[in-house]
Amino acid sequence: MFISTRRLRRCQFVQVLSFCFVMSLMLMWVQDDNDVVNHIKSYSYRYLINSYDFVNDSLTIVRDKSDIQNYNYLISNKYKCQSENVLLLVFVKTSPENRRRRDAIRRTWGNEDYIRSQYDATIKVMFALGIDKDPAKRSLLQKQLENENKVYNDLVQQDFLDTFHNLTLKFLLQFGWVNTYCPNAKFIMSSDDDIFVHTPNLVTYLKDLDQIGVQDFWIGRVHRGSPPIRKRNSKYYVPYEMYQWSSYPDYTAGAAYVVSQDVAAKVYDASQTLNTSLYIDDVFMGICANKMKVVPQYHLFFSGEGKAPYHQCIFNRMMTSHGHLDDIHYLWKQAIDPKVKELTSGFWGDSYCRLVNILLLCRIRYKDTYPCSAAWS
Ligand SMILES: *[C@@H]1O[C@H](CO)[C@@H](O)[C@H](O)[C@H]1NC(C)=O
Ligand SMILES: *[C@@H]1O[C@H](CO)[C@@H](O)[C@H](O)[C@H]1NC(C)=O
Ligand SMILES: *[C@@H]1O[C@H](CO)[C@@H](O)[C@H](O)[C@H]1NC(C)=O
Repeated sequence: MFISTRRLRRCQFVQVLSFCFVMSLMLMWVQDDNDVVNHIKSYSYRYLINSYDFVNDSLTIVRDKSDIQNYNYLISNKYKCQSENVLLLVFVKTSPENRRRRDAIRRTWGNEDYIRSQYDATIKVMFALGIDKDPAKRSLLQKQLENENKVYNDLVQQDFLDTFHNLTLKFLLQFGWVNTYCPNAKFIMSSDDDIFVHTPNLVTYLKDLDQIGVQDFWIGRVHRGSPPIRKRNSKYYVPYEMYQWSSYPDYTAGAAYVVSQDVAAKVYDASQTLNTSLYIDDVFMGICANKMKVVPQYHLFFSGEGKAPYHQCIFNRMMTSHGHLDDIHYLWKQAIDPKVKELTSGFWGDSYCRLVNILLLCRIRYKDTYPCSAAWS
């Protein structure tokens, strides 16, 4: 066969070029600081992480009961959940000094009486916290917390320091409390204290699921195949000794997620057999669930980092929205306004809202709230 030398040269050139390309890809691959490559790598690893037992094998520890570090309850409210048919128990992760946030939640989306009277459902809203990290302020704040609890009876506190790196202890507090004092709640939610939860929408949704006796239920905003952060200066830095794999199991963002009763029980059981040194609480929850083979489902109206757009067509469907502090009263009023249902129901309401939601959610460079696909769902 005849091949011209020119053609040959071009072939070689292409070969050399592709060789270089592959080499540089591999170089980037081993260099850990590259975010994009990290994500590709961890995402391709994800299937393995989710399907096999090596994560739980590596983190499972043998310990007898006395070995588990138990923190004492300073405030337990252990009767809060008894003798009632609780549909939803909400744990709000808070800190001693965040009194204003707790009050705002009590008066808005966490108002148990409102939900009972308007939606004929029992919810319980509890605040999970540790002790103040500043020794100078601790005893005064503790007095104030005890007074606050006398009024509302809704705090659950253990004697660990309330810090970012103790979030897994706060996670254990929540699931431990549920396991001991509230095993009959149908659904359990964990949320941050700067989150807006559209409790009417959520309760309506959960009531339907309860009717059909749903199990293995775990919803939220799902992180799929996220890589551990190995940069030392990051808030989320995790050293290899703590977690050796290049991807976490799928998990839901800790800002807000909901599980059914059976999942809460399984997750609690798993938490008792795992090394709890991993301080990122939502990842730890993911590892517990992974051990029990429970898989999270993405609910499109659980928000990401950003605030949801303010519009009736969004209020009609929203479950959670992130980053609300001063506007929480305003948002609550808007969200439960009867006009929302009027405007958004029926064929025309439906069509109108579909269009509006596409315009609101499918813009490029929109803040990270609900994905574009939520508008089509
Ligand atoms: C990991 O989880 C599976 C359940 O899917 C279990 O069979 C296995 O024993 C676990 N491994 C360890 C070390 O506990
Ligand atoms: C977590 O709480 C414990 C108990 O109070 C404390 O000894 C420890 O220093 C805290 N850890 C962090 C990282 O704050
Ligand atoms: C848990 O993991 C840490 C590393 O993050 C390790 O130092 C510790 O020994 C482990 N604990 C047990 C009981 O294996």
